[in-house]
Amino acid sequence: MRIAMIGSGYVGLVSGACFAQFGHDIVCVDKDADKVARLRKGEIPIYEPGLDKLVADNARAGRLSFDTGLADAVGNADAVFIAVGTPTRRGDGHADLSYVYAAAAEIAEAIRGYTVVVTKSTVPVGTGREVARIIREARPTNNFDVASNPEFLREGAAIEDFMKPDRVVIGVESQRARDVMAAVYRPLNLIQTPMVFTNIETAEVTKYAGNAFLATKITFINEIADLCEKVGADVHDVARGIGLDGRIGRKFLHPGPGFGGSCFPKDTLALAYTAREVNAPQTIVEQVIEVNNARKKRMARKVIDFCGGSVAGITIAVLGLTFKPNTDDMRDAPSLDIVPALQAAGATIVAFDPEGMKEAARMLPGVAFAGTAYEAASGADLLVVITEWHEFRGLDPRRIKELMRQPRIVDLRNIFNPDEMRDLGFAYEGIGRPRPRT
Ligand code: UGA
Repeated sequence: MRIAMIGSGYVGLVSGACFAQFGHDIVCVDKDADKVARLRKGEIPIYEPGLDKLVADNARAGRLSFDTGLADAVGNADAVFIAVGTPTRRGDGHADLSYVYAAAAEIAEAIRGYTVVVTKSTVPVGTGREVARIIREARPTNNFDVASNPEFLREGAAIEDFMKPDRVVIGVESQRARDVMAAVYRPLNLIQTPMVFTNIETAEVTKYAGNAFLATKITFINEIADLCEKVGADVHDVARGIGLDGRIGRKFLHPGPGFGGSCFPKDTLALAYTAREVNAPQTIVEQVIEVNNARKKRMARKVIDFCGGSVAGITIAVLGLTFKPNTDDMRDAPSLDIVPALQAAGATIVAFDPEGMKEAARMLPGVAFAGTAYEAASGADLLVVITEWHEFRGLDPRRIKELMRQPRIVDLRNIFNPDEMRDLGFAYEGIGRPRPRT
C-alpha cells in the first residue's frame, strides 16, 4: 500500500515508521522544513526508544521518505492519514481543529484516483464528517472516503504499542474503505489483533472514552491513596487487592502526583466540552479534571508539610521532570506545578532528568541542573522524586545518604521501599503508604 502521513509529530512519525516496517511505502509530510531536513538525515526530533533505528532501517530500505509538501505523496496514495496536532484551544478547553481542517483542504486539491482519507489525530466526534465535507466541497469530483482510526500508543512504549496493539479501531462507511483499511493493517492478522470496525462517530468517541476512563482510574487510585495515608493503609496492597479482580484489572492503578502529558489533560477537557455542547455532560470526567489539577498543585504542600511547614532557604534535589519516564515530553508534567511552588516557598531547586532537562530548562526558570542523580543529591536537604525513571530505582540509597546534607526523601512515585529507607536512617514519605507509628 502507498500511504501519505500528514504531520510528522509524535503520532505521525511513529505510525509512519511502523507502517513502513509492515512493508508499506510511506511518505511522512511536515510543513516544518527544518524538521524534514533533520529527518532526512536520520535525526529524530523526539526521544522515543527504538524510533531512530526503525526510521533509519526503513529509510534505507526505501520504504520511508519525508517531504515538506503533500501534493505528490497524496496524489500517489491509497490512504492518506491526517496526524497533525489538535492542541487545546485557548480559553474554552475545546480541541483546536484548525490544523486538521487545513490539512483536509490541501488534501482535497491533491487527490487523484480513489483515496481513503483517515483521521488519526485525536479529534472530537463530528470531525470526520467535517473533513469529508471540506474535501467534497473543494472538489466535487474527488473520489474518496473518509475513515477514523484513533491511535492508542503511549509515549515511551510507542513502537511496541503500535506493532502489538490490544486492538485496532476503525470507523468506515463503505466496503471499499473498509477493504483498504483492512489491507493497511493486514500484517497484524498474524498476531490475531482484534479489529473493531464501526462507524466514524463511534471510532471518534472510543478514543476519548478510552483516555477518559484511564484518567479516571488513575484519579480514583490517587484519592484512595489519600485515604490510605490518613488511616494507615497501604495503597499498593489495595491496588493489588482490587486489581487482581479481572473486572478491575491491575494496570493504571499506580498512585502518583497526578496525570500529565500531551493526551489525558487535553482529551478529558475536550470530551467534557463536546459533551456539554450536546447536553450530555460528563460529570465524572469533569470531576476527574478538577481533582487532578488540584492534586498537582497540592503536591508542593505535601513536600512543605513534610519539612515541618517551611522549605525556605533549603536546597531540594528533584529527580525526574518529564510527565512520565522514557520521554523528553514536559507537557502538563506535574513538575511544572510542583517546582515553581517550592521555589516560591523559598527553596533552591537542583534537578536531574535523564532526557527532559533541555525542554525543562525553557519551562522552569531558576532551576539548576545536575549531570546525574547523585550530583543533584549532593548537599541537598531534601530529595523529591517526581518521575519514576527506571535508573532511579537502581540508585544506591547509602551513597545518596552520604551525599545529602539531611537524609530526607519525598517519593511521589513510590519507587523506594519505605521500611528499607527508614532503616537506613532516611526521613521518608511516599504516596498512600503507612507512616511509621510514633
Ligand atoms: C496515553 C494513553 O495511555 C494512550 O493509550 C493514548 O494513545 C495516549 O495517551 C494518547 O492519547 O495519545 P501517554 O499520555 O503517552 O498515553 O502516557 P500514559 O502512560 O498513559 O501516562 C499518562 C499519565 O498518567 C502520566 O503522567 C503518568 O505518570 C500517569 N499515570 C499512568 C499514573 O499516574 N498512574 C498510572 O497508573 C498510569
